[in-house]
Amino acid sequence: MKNLLIIVSLLFTTTLFSQSKVSISLNKPNTERGLSVMKALSLRASASKFDPTPLAMQDLSDLLWASNGVNRPESGKRTAPSAINAQDIDIYVFNSEGVYLYNAQNHTLELVVTEDNRKIISNQDKDTYPPVILLLVSDIARFRRGDDATKAEWAAMDAGIVSQNTLLFCASAGMEARPRAFMNKEQIRELLNLNSNQLPMLNIPVSYKQR
Ligand SMILES: Cc1cc2nc3c(=O)[nH]c(=O)nc-3n(C[C@H](O)[C@H](O)[C@H](O)COP(=O)(O)O)c2cc1C
Repeated sequence: MKNLLIIVSLLFTTTLFSQSKVSISLNKPNTERGLSVMKALSLRASASKFDPTPLAMQDLSDLLWASNGVNRPESGKRTAPSAINAQDIDIYVFNSEGVYLYNAQNHTLELVVTEDNRKIISNQDKDTYPPVILLLVSDIARFRRGDDATKAEWAAMDAGIVSQNTLLFCASAGMEARPRAFMNKEQIRELLNLNSNQLPMLNIPVSYKQR
């Protein structure tokens, strides 16, 4: 029965993405799942191999919410803190169907680019790409004060915090992840049409554990 549910869930995810929908509603986060924070900390490690199986919709939804979702709807504040509450970190989701932008306030994915572009961000991964790669982009124009050096510092700190949310969620959910600063930023900027205030900070491949 459990296997059947996983297969149905995967089919549902594949169908949703294969239609390359412009906006995809994510599932409500399951805040009851996962290991304790202490257990997740004891398991957290950067993976070097990734299983290609697509993530189920609930897992993708929970991954994004845990990373930087809205946890206090009354104020719109997030699971990750940000300097002066600028909420500068955007998460782009690269998968086999395209690139999507996580809209945290609506808990949706918005289509940015059709087609698989994981190779651009994932030249470390050789032949087998992870099913999902998260790209953290800081929009430093959202910092309403501070000089450029200060904004760059805040952007790095904010990206680091979002990244740790992602990594701890993955450890807690039995999934693999690795934070990576190396990437071809010029190609990424071009692909996503980023402006000069939008800085690619880290990318994080995520997968299930290899079977
Ligand atoms: C800011 C930052 C940038 C990183 N960049 C890369 C990278 O570009 N490529 C990579 O393979 N690993 C990268 N890593 C992962 C580190 O190599 C890894 O965290 C380190 O070896 C310690 O291993 P652990 O995470 O399993 O404790 C990065 C980690 C951090 C925190």
